[in-house]
Amino acid sequence: MLNIILLGPPGSGKGTQAEFIVKTFELSHISTGECLRNEIKSQTELGTAVQDIISKGELVPDEIVNAIIANHIKNNLSVKGFLFDGYPRTQAQAQHLDNLLNKLNIPISFALNIDVADEELVRRIVYRGQLSGRADDTEDTAYQRIKVYNEKTKVLLDFYQAQDKLVSINGHGTIEENNGRVNDIICKF
Ligand code: AP5
Ligand code: MG
Repeated sequence: MLNIILLGPPGSGKGTQAEFIVKTFELSHISTGECLRNEIKSQTELGTAVQDIISKGELVPDEIVNAIIANHIKNNLSVKGFLFDGYPRTQAQAQHLDNLLNKLNIPISFALNIDVADEELVRRIVYRGQLSGRADDTEDTAYQRIKVYNEKTKVLLDFYQAQDKLVSINGHGTIEENNGRVNDIICKF
């Protein structure tokens, strides 16, 4: 199985690259952000509970996203591999994923970090916000999401480096250039 974790700050291009990766390598894509936005759109109890947290750029509680991921994995055990996008985002989530996958004997192939500078992240997020109207795509919330990333998620680079599973790409190229970099890494694995 090919199991990839997409790491990288908000707006770095995880979702954009995920679309290419799942098509080329036929992986099962799970984005916790997308799942939560669908819950909000459908006005479910969960959606209502997380709406404010997301629009403020904070992280939803670990238990909620851990349960989403556990369900997704258990319901898709016959796939060629998983692509985790936007999960894990805290050390506790990373530990939860390791425990879950160890029990199921599913190895993480590597964690792919997309490295992009803060000004470019904000530019991309604000630009998309003008078109999509995503509630958390304002300038203020972009800065808050980056702050939360630095405080809670960036530590995962060390977490996967310690397991010798971290690979990084420069995410400043065009979407196509970045896709080329990503494909090179996956093909060499
Ligand atoms: P989530 O949906 O995961 O959002 P995010 O990681 O903060 O950021 P994005 O998904 O917006 O960025 P991305 O890296 O996918 O980039 P994209 O390809 O879209 O999470 C949203 C919220 O949900 C969180 O803040 C939190 O509240 C909650 N949440 C989700 N998961 C959670 C978890 N595990 N734990 C707790 N809470 C969780 O690209 C961005 C834009 O840039 C696009 O418009 C794209 O077209 C453009 N772009 C992409 N690549 C390039 C390029 N190379 N050049 C120019 N533009 C580009
Ligand atoms: Mg995304």
